Amino acid sequence: MTSYLPPAQRIWWKMPVGREEIVWIAIALVWCLILFFMMPFWHVYGKQNLSTEAYQTTPAQFGLKVQAMIDQYTVRHETEQQIPVVAPPAGSDIYMLGRLWQWWPILELEKGQTYRLHLSSMDWQHGFSLQPVNINMQILPGYEMVLNITPDVAGEYGVVCNEYCGIGHHTMLGRIYVKE
Ligand code: CUA
Repeated sequence: MTSYLPPAQRIWWKMPVGREEIVWIAIALVWCLILFFMMPFWHVYGKQNLSTEAYQTTPAQFGLKVQAMIDQYTVRHETEQQIPVVAPPAGSDIYMLGRLWQWWPILELEKGQTYRLHLSSMDWQHGFSLQPVNINMQILPGYEMVLNITPDVAGEYGVVCNEYCGIGHHTMLGRIYVKE
């Protein structure tokens, strides 16, 4: 039967449904319900959840906290923009800000130590993407996101901006070092 012809029997919706069709509808329904309930379940129990903490802030307030850390714990400067490399003590609150178009400052952490990483934006939306471990956070002005992090592999990590933020988006790169 083709769909561009009128149905042979006008009251087709009163015809009995085939057994296979019932089975497929049941399978589809069960699968829909599984997917539906997985959303709240995984939101609560999934290990992918990064931040359970977010605070209101302002770019000015957040900037002061970042600067206070930089003033206290800068160990050297790197890159042609002379970005400070900051080595805050293990277990402390550490800060990184996103702005057009950089991540500021560079952090130098110790392997196996836990830090509270605070992230916010100075202007508009940026995406904090930590590579190669692929941790992603949306960074917005006015919101301070806090992640408890314990780096377990030493090395150099890149921070890429993964929300399009204008003409210099592709140059918005940052760095985190993890020392043995
Ligand atoms: Cu910041 Cu794209």
